[in-house]
Amino acid sequence: MNYPKYKITIDALKKSGVKYELIHHPPITTVEEGLAFLGISAGQGASTIIVETDKGFVTLLRRDDHQIDLEKVKNTLEVSRVNLCKPLQVLEITQCQVGYVSPYNPSLVTLADETILEKDYVYCGTGNPEYDLKITPKNLFQFTNAKVVDFIKKSIFRTKPRILTGDTPSGKLHIGHYVGTLENRVKLQHEYDTYILLANIHAYANNYAQSELINKNVYEVFLDNLAVGIDPEISTIYLESGIPETLELYSYFLTMVTHTRAVRNPSVKEEIKYKKLDPSMGFICYPILQAADILGFNANLVPVGEDQLPVIEQTREIARDFNKAYGKTFIVPEAKVGRVARLIGTDGKNKMSKSGQNAILLSDDEATLKKKIQACYTDPSRIHVTDPGKIEGNPIFEYHKAFNLDKTEVEDLEKRYRLGQVGDKEVKDKLFVAMNNFLAPIREKRKYYEDRPEVAKEILIESTKRARKVVIETVERVREQMEINKLIK
Ligand code: TRP
Repeated sequence: MNYPKYKITIDALKKSGVKYELIHHPPITTVEEGLAFLGISAGQGASTIIVETDKGFVTLLRRDDHQIDLEKVKNTLEVSRVNLCKPLQVLEITQCQVGYVSPYNPSLVTLADETILEKDYVYCGTGNPEYDLKITPKNLFQFTNAKVVDFIKKSIFRTKPRILTGDTPSGKLHIGHYVGTLENRVKLQHEYDTYILLANIHAYANNYAQSELINKNVYEVFLDNLAVGIDPEISTIYLESGIPETLELYSYFLTMVTHTRAVRNPSVKEEIKYKKLDPSMGFICYPILQAADILGFNANLVPVGEDQLPVIEQTREIARDFNKAYGKTFIVPEAKVGRVARLIGTDGKNKMSKSGQNAILLSDDEATLKKKIQACYTDPSRIHVTDPGKIEGNPIFEYHKAFNLDKTEVEDLEKRYRLGQVGDKEVKDKLFVAMNNFLAPIREKRKYYEDRPEVAKEILIESTKRARKVVIETVERVREQMEINKLIK
């Protein structure tokens, strides 16, 4: 089979003197097949798209993980009409089938997606279904004489799935938060585009007129997140109130949730009971604000503590209802609970709580840790060392299980405790060593930022700006879907 376009492309490459490589493979006709064969991600592929404008045909080179914003193309080219060409038209113009079109079309204007430059090299078509061209972006742009511009649809461009999660700043975070949600965040931040909010508006909904306390707690929770290993270069930790657009979204969602549904939320009901609240409207509606936090980012995954599952369920309902009413706008997110769903407090009775007095804090120093472990409840029915003891529901053993990396030691202590062959003191001393080893690097990282408040502040300001951009785009789309401003446009 003769591929005239292939020959033209190779001749031009040779003449231009740029470096390139040809990769041979079985014949392919779709982008997916090509990516699969080459074993590369979509971001590494560059496709050639031919569009028709009122000033003629134009070649666009775009990354395969991106979509083209035709409005931006129109503005760049200063034309009034841009259409994607049909496969038959493409065949006529480029003499290739869609799927292996060559980027070299010297008779047409060529525009290239500027983000291709982020890659060391890319793969593109050659005009022959059995060959791919491997080339650096610079060389590709030079030999195709492309103009490098921004024509990408930013809101859809997503190379990684997204996480949105966070905490209400009502106190410093504790070891229960760690196993319930923080650990997941830290692990997943490399695989997910991760956003972490400091939910200060949620704190006002708990108890307003406490700005000083809330701001103090925001700062502590911010440091706690950095201390456990949230990397501000990778993840975005931001202040909820720094994105006022979230509140616009919240007010649209408020119109969609019935009063009956709002007061039925088990998370809300339980917290009212536990904290003996006369709840504000803001408190009853906090799951709706939380839905706005999450859907404003179109997050895929929400790592949370087990107590928050009904809240995420309500978020999912709102996403589905909105999509049904106004057309597909939101991703319906999944919740993810950590390896210990519910860590018991040092009182041996209640769940560990940041507003209660039964918590071991991530920021506790050695002396405090020692004191708390010594005072911690164990098996209340065990009086003498020789009495057989209970492991289940015993905070000391729950903590050993969750934090002591020496599993043989834990098994040995459990065995002897059950048989009445070990005293509380030894079990507690060993727990102290394990917990202290766990907390030492966290304290150290916390101190790093405590000593550099200007660095910490800069991170928060810049991250909040970055996060806001995402939500602004979502809310713009929401307004359009709802046609809420149709009459003033
Ligand atoms: N309500 C959450 C808490 O228990 C905090 C929160 C607010 C949140 N907005 C969120 C958690 C969005 C996850 C996603 O503290």
